[in-house]
Amino acid sequence: MNYRHIYHAGNFADVLKHAVLARLIVYMAQKDKAFRVLDTHAGIGLYDLSSEEAQKTGEWVDGIGRILDTDIPAKAKAILEPYLTAIRDLNPDGGLTLYPGSPKLTRMLMRPQDRLSAMELHPDDYETLHRLFDGDFQSRITELDGWLALGAHLPPKEKRGIVLVDPPFEISGEYERLADGLHKAYRRFSGGTFCLWYPLKQGAPIAEFHAALQALEIPKMLCAELSVRSDRDTTGLSGSGLIIVNPPFTLKGELDILLPFLKDRLKQDRHASARAFWLRGEEMPERD
Ligand SMILES: C[S@@+](CC[C@H](N)C(=O)[O-])C[C@H]1O[C@@H](n2cnc3c(N)ncnc32)[C@H](O)[C@@H]1O
Repeated sequence: MNYRHIYHAGNFADVLKHAVLARLIVYMAQKDKAFRVLDTHAGIGLYDLSSEEAQKTGEWVDGIGRILDTDIPAKAKAILEPYLTAIRDLNPDGGLTLYPGSPKLTRMLMRPQDRLSAMELHPDDYETLHRLFDGDFQSRITELDGWLALGAHLPPKEKRGIVLVDPPFEISGEYERLADGLHKAYRRFSGGTFCLWYPLKQGAPIAEFHAALQALEIPKMLCAELSVRSDRDTTGLSGSGLIIVNPPFTLKGELDILLPFLKDRLKQDRHASARAFWLRGEEMPERD
């Protein structure tokens, strides 16, 4: 396990993932009934962008650095508001030093009746995350393989909730594992909202991954992808995607506003592209 998210915190992929996660939570919170967020690959929760590690790559500069405290068109601004407000709340003196990872962002948007279960397998990152939530009775942090949590921790006792699956993709076969993991988890919690993250990069088996997901016959599955550059000249990330199962009915319309804005703002070359479409459900896929 070599992956450490501190080198990537706040990058263009985090912006899409965290902005959408915030929308999912805000939507869940519209009903009084409690919900749970299960975060299977949680990271350390809070990132110091002034740290040596974050400064070494500086990835956040071309991610959240291009968005926070900038002019944003009104509709996109309204969609981004819960995400950006959380970041501003972490940096009360202005600027951008602290950046919330998925468990921290979730916790900031939860209400007193809601709960967080977060898994992290890297021993050091688990310790850091556990310390961050020390004494918080609404959060349960576990040093556990997140793939196992998809079985053991579902369905949540609240019977409402969001499952975020955000693996590091440092070993081969992760796309297949993600589709298999969803299959297993959906059988246990078919009413849940699932959000799966995956990388877009040279040679990535995206068409096969989408086909595997479509074969699961899950009725409502939305896909959002944002590429900030061509994948030809880099072996690193050129973009990222999210699969959202059982999305709020408002999400597709929000993505149709958010993605063009993010593409325009985060693009690194003229090959930047974005799309949101139903893998299964409301409409047939536009293309793949
Ligand atoms: C992409 S990062 C998570 C970022 C976090 N979800 C966020 O958005 O802020 C992936 C994390 O998964 C952890 N990890 C790797 N394999 C895991 C496993 N099998 N179970 C749980 N955590 C794992 C890594 O140590 C790393 O911290």
